[in-house]
Amino acid sequence: MKIGIVGLGFVGLSLTSVLASKGYNTVGIDVDKEKCEKISNGNSPFFEPNLEKILRNGLKKKLTVSDDFSLIKDCDMIFVTVGTPQSKNGSIELTMIKKSVRTIGKILHENKKNPIVIIKSTVIPGTMQKVILPILEKESKKKAGKEFGLISNPEFLQEGTAIRDTEFPHVVVLGGYQTKYMEKTRTFFSKLHPNTSIIITNHQTAEMIKYANNSFLATKISFINQLSNICQNIPGSNIDDIAKTIGLDPRIGKLFLNAGPGYGGSCLPKDMKALIKFAGDIGINPTLLNAVEKINQVQINQIVSLLEKKVGSISSKQITILGTAFKPNTDDIRDSIAIELIKKLLKKKAKITVHDPKAIRNTKNVFGGKICYDESITRALNNSHCAIIMTQWKQFGELNNKSIKCMKRKLIIDCRRILANKKLDAEYYALGIGK
Ligand code: UGA
Repeated sequence: MKIGIVGLGFVGLSLTSVLASKGYNTVGIDVDKEKCEKISNGNSPFFEPNLEKILRNGLKKKLTVSDDFSLIKDCDMIFVTVGTPQSKNGSIELTMIKKSVRTIGKILHENKKNPIVIIKSTVIPGTMQKVILPILEKESKKKAGKEFGLISNPEFLQEGTAIRDTEFPHVVVLGGYQTKYMEKTRTFFSKLHPNTSIIITNHQTAEMIKYANNSFLATKISFINQLSNICQNIPGSNIDDIAKTIGLDPRIGKLFLNAGPGYGGSCLPKDMKALIKFAGDIGINPTLLNAVEKINQVQINQIVSLLEKKVGSISSKQITILGTAFKPNTDDIRDSIAIELIKKLLKKKAKITVHDPKAIRNTKNVFGGKICYDESITRALNNSHCAIIMTQWKQFGELNNKSIKCMKRKLIIDCRRILANKKLDAEYYALGIGK
């Protein structure tokens, strides 16, 4: 069996590497030639724990990585994992996926194997039937369900645990018609993940499951963040004790109740906006989803107002931002709240120094010489009027009196409560802990 994967971002490259390392004859395709060369040499274009190890393992077996789409012409399965970013009005941008699918369609025309095209990219309900299927049928001059298979297969992996999630997903969702292609796909996934439930449904439900999943996670985060803001005004109360306790109720569950500066990253904010826009387009007023988004957008003000309350005018103050990655174990800063915060503080004329264990290079691409960067936490804190912990990197829990010794004012705002149980010789404020 030969498998092609089109689009080598987090999802595509993780899948390519895992399948190749398991011995599948795999072809990874991306339009970015330089990226393909890097990957072919065993180097990941982004930081993701364990990815390079699995990739190198795959490269020793049957893996080819190239920008040449024609290599998928004899594949039995073609996964589409290209990005569906956000357009200016909040809806999803389909340019990339349309282009890939057009090319795949042309190649299907010559493929004698009747392959199965499996769409992993996140798309708004109806996209498979109204956009992707017609393009594939037009370009290939073949009928979906007869001469090739077409399956929706939303992905639920998280950055930072992409390899583990690819190897052991909590569920596999397959959307499409009950054809022999669906049966083949089900057999493939049940061999790949013998202990995982496989849900078979239609395209539009599969597409909607992805949005339901991400919007529910966003709702949990905004819920806990709103409670965290309330707690901050109840002297002595602690949001983590509350989250831990309600999380023990199996109807609630303990995950995604970690209060903080708001959800960021390339998925939750984008998918929330797309779902809200889609709901509006079909005549539904999504009041709950709107509130979830609104809470997320204003959460950053908690940090700025706490800072202003403590230091007065921010202008010319030296502020150290600890963590710009949107979450730990990644170098990804897309839609990171820390990046938004830096922009806000720069407008208020603060002097910013940043430290992040992995994301300094990406942060430099955004701010260049407008801010300072330091690979050492202690040096980044030198002469600082305030340190703001934004990302839940484990390393930040190791801060001690020695590392903050050279701060001009030992003031810490901890958006993740990493240092809550440490006795530091500092003025310590945390989101979600009432003082
Ligand atoms: C998210 C979903 O969790 C994945 O299931 C999904 O596959 C992926 O989007 C996607 O659609 O591709 P990811 O973007 O990697 O995954 O990040 P999350 O772990 O969901 O975190 C998103 C944001 O929420 C981060 O800024 C994180 O710090 C924040 N968060 C998360 C909290 O503030 N509190 C929490 O308890 C959990």
